[in-house]
Amino acid sequence: MTIERFIAGLPKAELHLHIEGTLEPEMALALGRRNGVVLPWANTSELRAAYDFANLQEFLDLYYHGTRVLIEERDFHELTMAYLRRAGAQNVRHAEVFFDAQAHTARGVPFATVIDGIWRGLREGEQEFGVSSRLILCFLRDRPIAEAEEILDQALEYRDRLVAVGLDSAEVGNPPGKFADLFARARRWGLLAVAHAGEEGPAEYVRQVVERLGASRIDHGNRVLDDAALVHKLARVGMPFTVCPLSNLRLGVVARMADHPLQRMLDAGLLVTVNSDDPAYFGGYVNENYLAAAVALGLDEETLRGLARNSFAASFLDEAAKRNYIAKVDSYGT
Ligand code: ADE
Ligand code: ZN
Repeated sequence: MTIERFIAGLPKAELHLHIEGTLEPEMALALGRRNGVVLPWANTSELRAAYDFANLQEFLDLYYHGTRVLIEERDFHELTMAYLRRAGAQNVRHAEVFFDAQAHTARGVPFATVIDGIWRGLREGEQEFGVSSRLILCFLRDRPIAEAEEILDQALEYRDRLVAVGLDSAEVGNPPGKFADLFARARRWGLLAVAHAGEEGPAEYVRQVVERLGASRIDHGNRVLDDAALVHKLARVGMPFTVCPLSNLRLGVVARMADHPLQRMLDAGLLVTVNSDDPAYFGGYVNENYLAAAVALGLDEETLRGLARNSFAASFLDEAAKRNYIAKVDSYGT
């Protein structure tokens, strides 16, 4: 079996996926037309040509610009269905999906419109494509804490639809510790916590996510390798890392895929998973991420199986569901 076919058939979970980052150029232009939002790009090739990022901030500027076409409940529903269709076709059996509510409420789109559309998409997508899901509200770390507090107030009206809160957007200069009280409040409501750290920011931010936010997973976390003691500790407790190879390449976090720290993280005993982050912007969905890493780093089938096993182990599924999926990975391709 070719490595492409092995990856394509491998059952897997996706744990680091921004739903707004699945907005493909075709859909962005179509929704722009439907909603009367004028975009600075005339066609998909002009838009794709803009996907040439020097760093995280350049990407975020374009990403937030793209969100402006998402206005109606059906826009969020269509976006979510389109992602789950692709995920199902790539043998993603379970997806834990981030959404950036503040990117929409700050433009005057009601929180209810956003969460109702995504929620309906997740429910219909599960029926139609067989992909189960959980939903994670991300706070934007480069916006005021008071705004995040207000969003949490609104989100708590939908407590039952959420499994966790997260933290994303521009990392450097926005340390996780600033959000300790906010995350403590979310956790008192029984929400789990995840957070982006160590993508562009230092290992110290990874430490803060663990020690001050009470996170159950680290999103990215590449820079943890700069702190051997922290690596040792996180390996020992089995802290999961949601690594995103193509994102790291496209945002200049690594200069070449061959330099990617994924193998070094595995060698250090860390619980690593592979994810797509913002697939419409970074040149691939989850299978393309597995493939790019496998080719550049020479990952063999057992290592790929291990990554897929980790993706279920690190998910917020219940233990019985995890065991069931992991057994499917164990018997896959043998
Ligand atoms: N928002 C969407 N994708 C992101 C990423 N990779 N890092 C931080 N914030 C994001
Ligand atoms: Zn991300």
